[in-house]
Amino acid sequence: MRVLITGSNGLLGQKLVELLSKQPGLQVHACGQGENRLKLPAGVDYAPLDIRDAEQTLRLWESVRPNSVIHAAAMTNVDACEQGPDTCDAVNIQGTEHVLSACERWNCHLIHISTDFIFNGNDGPYDESAQADPLSHYGLSKWKAEEKVMQSSLKWAILRTVLVYGVTQGMARSNIVLWARNALKSGNPVRVVNDQFRSPTLAEDLAMACWLAIQHKAEGIYHISGPDMMGIDELVRRVAAFWNLPTQAMETVSSATLNQPAQRPPKTGFIIDKARHELGYAPHTFEEGLALVDAQIAAMNTGSSTQEP
Ligand SMILES: NC(=O)c1ccc[n+]([C@@H]2O[C@H](COP(=O)([O-])OP(=O)(O)OC[C@H]3O[C@@H](n4cnc5c(N)ncnc54)[C@H](OP(=O)(O)O)[C@@H]3O)[C@@H](O)[C@H]2O)c1
Repeated sequence: MRVLITGSNGLLGQKLVELLSKQPGLQVHACGQGENRLKLPAGVDYAPLDIRDAEQTLRLWESVRPNSVIHAAAMTNVDACEQGPDTCDAVNIQGTEHVLSACERWNCHLIHISTDFIFNGNDGPYDESAQADPLSHYGLSKWKAEEKVMQSSLKWAILRTVLVYGVTQGMARSNIVLWARNALKSGNPVRVVNDQFRSPTLAEDLAMACWLAIQHKAEGIYHISGPDMMGIDELVRRVAAFWNLPTQAMETVSSATLNQPAQRPPKTGFIIDKARHELGYAPHTFEEGLALVDAQIAAMNTGSSTQEP
């Protein structure tokens, strides 16, 4: 079976390449914007692909002829999307349309990755039947992309996720856990919001959910996140407790005081019962996730390879 991953240089993309390359009988093809920036496992090939280019997208599908596609590529910087809505739409909406056309041409099973930011955050945690009402342009673009997927003639699964954390090769990309760990370690003042609630997701768990969705030939919407719901301030305190870091320099503030260009939904988080029952999804607890992050950082510092503890 041939699987094609878009956005393979990204946080999820990297974890997918790592996980899928270990599965017997699977031919893994990766693609991303520009050159490959990963140390690719043996047997995985890479092609540059900008999903904004419809022709290039079709050509790649023609050469790979994937059975399944995991569409992880997206413009994910929420504030950049707010300030550059046209670029955001070109990647997240039109790019997804190009992926859909190519998938329709080769009759692929599509795993499309989406976000909790399609919700307004008034009444999380959300299950799959909740009504979308995005507050930001990023959220809107991802919701419109979902609508395109749902209208397609494909076999599709939409996996929505929440606040993904994990370690990438060379620590090239940051996320909430690495940011909190570094900020607390520095001892400099840290401002943390006290009015946003999430169920943070270990990147490895999300990659596993994608693989489970392929194996189960899943169709429909699935909410995929970690099992623990918490405020962002609590998350930072749990990061501090895990690595035994001081919290004196931490100041809790309301979201409004940060003056970020894009509005964030206050309380999202997911109810993940459907994924647990139908896919056998079994995510790590937050502290188990931190332990894996810790082991990966240690392995990176000693130059050895990482195995799940
Ligand atoms: N991270 C989160 O907290 C979070 C939460 C909810 C949902 N999601 C969703 O999860 C999926 C994976 O996100 P992630 O966390 O892995 O984000 P990420 O690390 O930003 O990865 C996204 C990847 O997409 C690539 N990309 C951007 N524009 C592209 C284009 N025009 N053509 C081809 N590739 C392009 C990026 O390339 P570069 O490497 O060159 O930038 C990047 O490698 C996305 O659909 C995102 O919306 C993420």
